[in-house]
Amino acid sequence: MSYPYQIKTLDAYKKAYEESVNNPEKFWAAVAENFVWRKKWDKVLSWDFKDYNVKWFEGAKLNITENCLDRHLEKNGNTPAIIWESNNPEEPHRVLTYKELHFKVMQFANVLKNNGVKKGDRVCIYMSMIPELAIAVLACARIGAIHSVIFGGFSAKAIADRLDDAKAEFIVTSDGGYRGAKNIPLKSVIDDALVENKTVKRVIVFTRTRTPVSMIKGRDVWWEDEIKKVEAQGNPDFPAVEMDAEDILFILYTSGSTGKPKGVVHTTAGYMIWANYTFVNVFQYQQGQVHFCTADIGWITGHSYIVYGPLSAGATSLMFEGIPTYPDAGRFWDVVDKHKVNILYTAPTAIRSLMGFGLEYVNGKNLSSLQVLGSVGEPINEEAWQWLYKNIGKEKIPIVDTWWQTETGGIMISNLAGVTPQKPSYATLPLPGVQLVLVDEKGDEIKDSHVQGNLCIKAPWLGIIRTTYGDHERCKQTYFSTYKNLYFTGDGSYRDKDGNYRITGRVDDVLNVSGHRIGTAEVENAINMHAGVIESAVVGYPHDIKGQGIYAYVIFDNTHGDPNLSKQDIIQTVSRIIGAIAKPDKIQFVPGLPKTRSGKIMRRILRKIAEGDTNNLGDTSALLDPSVVDVIKEGKIK
Ligand code: PRX
Repeated sequence: MSYPYQIKTLDAYKKAYEESVNNPEKFWAAVAENFVWRKKWDKVLSWDFKDYNVKWFEGAKLNITENCLDRHLEKNGNTPAIIWESNNPEEPHRVLTYKELHFKVMQFANVLKNNGVKKGDRVCIYMSMIPELAIAVLACARIGAIHSVIFGGFSAKAIADRLDDAKAEFIVTSDGGYRGAKNIPLKSVIDDALVENKTVKRVIVFTRTRTPVSMIKGRDVWWEDEIKKVEAQGNPDFPAVEMDAEDILFILYTSGSTGKPKGVVHTTAGYMIWANYTFVNVFQYQQGQVHFCTADIGWITGHSYIVYGPLSAGATSLMFEGIPTYPDAGRFWDVVDKHKVNILYTAPTAIRSLMGFGLEYVNGKNLSSLQVLGSVGEPINEEAWQWLYKNIGKEKIPIVDTWWQTETGGIMISNLAGVTPQKPSYATLPLPGVQLVLVDEKGDEIKDSHVQGNLCIKAPWLGIIRTTYGDHERCKQTYFSTYKNLYFTGDGSYRDKDGNYRITGRVDDVLNVSGHRIGTAEVENAINMHAGVIESAVVGYPHDIKGQGIYAYVIFDNTHGDPNLSKQDIIQTVSRIIGAIAKPDKIQFVPGLPKTRSGKIMRRILRKIAEGDTNNLGDTSALLDPSVVDVIKEGKIK
């Protein structure tokens, strides 16, 4: 494939940026010419941020899998589309060429069809990182069904809520999944999630771990048996279903400031082009390269940079089932060495954890294939950046620090590898089409440099969230009501004199733990479910490896047993309600919480105490009972 829209110089970047802002319709129509359409668009863009409505390529017809699979078959049919590396280094890796992936996606699309899945139906996918996860995602896209992938670490209760919200009728899962030394009983978690469910009609189960599972008659079927039926039908073809540009491609749940996760909706054409355009430009992808994104497909990073971005570009996408520290802390480097990885896209938390194990796990590994390194998910601190640059990149290759969100569909701010300047701990410059503004508390734009403000965006880009599933009002309220006519990211940012952006973190009640987004309200709700808990307040605090840790202040009714055991019980409760990723790192039992006279918890004070900054608590005179602050300070968990 060729990518005429790939930006190759700093001047070309400046020119593209200018054009994308001055004449977005012309700019993106030219990019869109490089994709496969059943019918071209009538109008490139219509939008309104007030009632929130965005349409890209209205009237166009396409199917994303024709862009990710079919169009590569003739020239690149034998190119590996997916290289899969097992959790277990002894297990042989798997390679699926574009031809093979295309075949398997059509086969599974037939399975979906035989099981009653139609265009527009919601299919929840709860699997570990095996090729069948990507196959299931693409088969949904081929049939026009809406996929909603749920990360394998979420609990039954969290899945049940998401199934209800999406009114999902189908689930694709596996018996179990390997992650490091753990074997996660995925099907059993699904069974628990389905206890009170009223919408799911069919569960398709792939065999990965041979963990014993209960298969419910009339509801559960084995993936392998269903494939055999398709083989027996004799015709493996499954022509892609024609979709409107704005038909929903997927729902992905993410946390916000309220207790209920929201279903971020992405549609077909705009998302596809944004995932592809950002992949090709940020990583400066060259044909034949192997791209290794270490995220899980359960998160947006995996959607855009394991599946849709690389495959739409005809790249080889490396999919890794395991974790960076299993069987030892050299695993990433073994994978890079073994598969001659060219682009490695990972998270600061992984880097920081590997730094702690020392260079003995890096030394001796051949990393000479690497050409680009990337970071995503949270601010990358200077120390981690330098470690990566020096020890992995050998001071020779660029690092892209990519800022974006589930809601943005693809990368928004980043240097372009080797093309635009990099600056440690800065995501640097916006991509074409991304019009950033910093605003002050009142919502007034701050135009100067050397300034800090709340990060907003003033016009739609291709991959912008279209709605929150089933509740458009919530989408409007969350993103478009804080500041007039602006999309509010929820992040704070600093801008330097050259226009480079340095993201300083969330300014709302959302935590970023190991690059995962977790709402404090969600964790509080989960803690409050525990029988002995009267009230709780959750804040983040700086954590050496995770970026942020979770600190919970809990008012506990002591008649409910041994306080130390109760802390374990609370942790267990959070695991049950959300999943292990939301477990508090520290729990402090407190007699009361610092509240204003109107009953609002002053989180600022709790945050400061959790950060260890107890001498600068600011004005506490507005509190109903200022003395509670001293008690909390004294009991702070080290
Ligand atoms: O706070 C920002 C942080 O992650 C948030 C988005 O989280 P999520 O929707 O889960 O998507 C993560 C992967 C795209 C943002 O609001 N974030 C993401 N990337 C960066 C970042 N913070 C600083 N620098 C980044 N490169």
